[in-house]
Amino acid sequence: MSSVEHVTPAVTEDAPWWRQAVVYQVYPRAFADSNGDGIGDLRGVTSRIEHLARLGVDAVWLSPFYPSPLEDGGYDVADYRDVDPRLGTLTDFDEMVGALHAHGIKVVVDIVPNHTSAAHPWFVEALAAGRGSAARERYIFREGSGVDGSQPPTDWESHFGGSAWERVADGQWYLHNFAVGQPDLNWHSEEVRADFIETIRFWSDRGADGFRVDVAHYLTKDLGEVLPSKAELEALPWDGTHPLADRDDVHEVYATWRAVFDEYDPPRTAVAEAWVDADRLPLYASAEGLGQAFNFDLLEADFDATQFRDVVTHNLDLAARSGSSSTWVLSNHDVVRHPTRYGLAVPGRTDDGRPLVKHGATWLLSGGTEPLDREGGARRARAATLFALALPGSMYLYQGEELGLHEVVEIPDDRREDPTFFRNPGVDVGRDGCRVPLPWTPDGPSLGFGSGPAGLPQPGWMADYAVSRLEEDPTSILHLYQDAIALRRRLLRGEELTWRATGRDDVVRFARHEGWEVVTTFGREGYDLDGAEVLLSSMPVPDGVLPGEATAWVRPS
Ligand code: NOJ
Ligand code: CA
Repeated sequence: MSSVEHVTPAVTEDAPWWRQAVVYQVYPRAFADSNGDGIGDLRGVTSRIEHLARLGVDAVWLSPFYPSPLEDGGYDVADYRDVDPRLGTLTDFDEMVGALHAHGIKVVVDIVPNHTSAAHPWFVEALAAGRGSAARERYIFREGSGVDGSQPPTDWESHFGGSAWERVADGQWYLHNFAVGQPDLNWHSEEVRADFIETIRFWSDRGADGFRVDVAHYLTKDLGEVLPSKAELEALPWDGTHPLADRDDVHEVYATWRAVFDEYDPPRTAVAEAWVDADRLPLYASAEGLGQAFNFDLLEADFDATQFRDVVTHNLDLAARSGSSSTWVLSNHDVVRHPTRYGLAVPGRTDDGRPLVKHGATWLLSGGTEPLDREGGARRARAATLFALALPGSMYLYQGEELGLHEVVEIPDDRREDPTFFRNPGVDVGRDGCRVPLPWTPDGPSLGFGSGPAGLPQPGWMADYAVSRLEEDPTSILHLYQDAIALRRRLLRGEELTWRATGRDDVVRFARHEGWEVVTTFGREGYDLDGAEVLLSSMPVPDGVLPGEATAWVRPS
């Protein structure tokens, strides 16, 4: 591979915390259950702060904990400014924030602005108020097609499968890009806009340091009088003018949010979840907008030298264009856990050569016919983690990845919860496999998750991944995460990355600053580190040779 190509500008010591943070995603219902009802809760988070502190994370991002009928794991919000009673109270939230802050850990909350829950008072009001009412103007209602309007207005499909329209009792239809219980809001409504500003202030005033913005590329829509068909819609480019997604005018909304974020000291931060063409991500990540955006390219890449290297180069370039820092994600609550992804015999392909759909876990449907190399997957996951934690920018971790958890494929159909499963029978098992409650101890009714049973069932093998067990084993993946995060904190200075030549297509090497270099072997063959001092490695380095499928942080001699 060629040598020096990419150098990002150095950033001073007093750079804002979020530029190079390690952010840990808590999926509250599956993290820790304080009262034995089988549902993880906010007091559970507070009770496990020691784990987060030992891990050394800079911030915690909590997926939604708001009142919700749970049609989409809490991303169907019925009240944006309260805590679901099953998860606790606002007082519990305040206590959790206080305790996290006391440990130097920042708090990021999830904001879900594209849609509310159907149980939100606005939607309840809209149904009661009837067609043409102001209450319906907060959502996207249309008449149906066909002579009697009994057909949906268009043939658009929801992201979870099936029609994107649902009919209500008086015959009108409403748009839901996601579950039926998630009606899309109308962002032309000033009332909608004002209400989200109030929500941002509400959580900021309560100590939230930042926001993760759900499907940030939706919100504004321009449907016009005549709605295009699905085929017409699909033919339109996502260049800022699309009627439904990634519209330029969504950034007018974020500019108003930014003004609010900047009223606080320190300014509140935000990270956009925007599944858009990577070249449009800088719009979301700019300082006038949300400030940072997830880049999911690494998560979508196979464990492959060329892919990883290209993703890094491209991401750093995008970050430089926005003035923001890069983000790195290997797993989250929507995708198959990465040790499992990396354990596929043929990464990225099914047996008959079709590409695997990782977002939504479709390939898991084969229920084990897909050959899964658990050990190899785990080894590659360790290597990928050390690679990603050494990159300039922020790393977003998903709960359980520090335990090396695999996807749970054993969930019986009658215990599944994800709407993707129900709306795609026989096609997609959905995302429950990465949302199974965490194992804290090797025994107990729910492996230490709580004193009662776990919501989604934990398979027997999870006991081997229990926090207490991994804590006792200095070679465990948990210790690797702890050591890497601690060392990263000590080593981090600027945001430079310089590629180094390795003479090998399957080995990637880059330098950060002050002699910190990172080497990853993506193939089976080892790589001689030429006497470099090994600071940390994902596998033992016998005789100065980094084995295959491993990463080392080194200081050349
Ligand atoms: C993205 C979230 O990460 C996902 O879990 C959710 O289903 C959709 N947005 C809809 O809110
Ligand atoms: Ca509970």
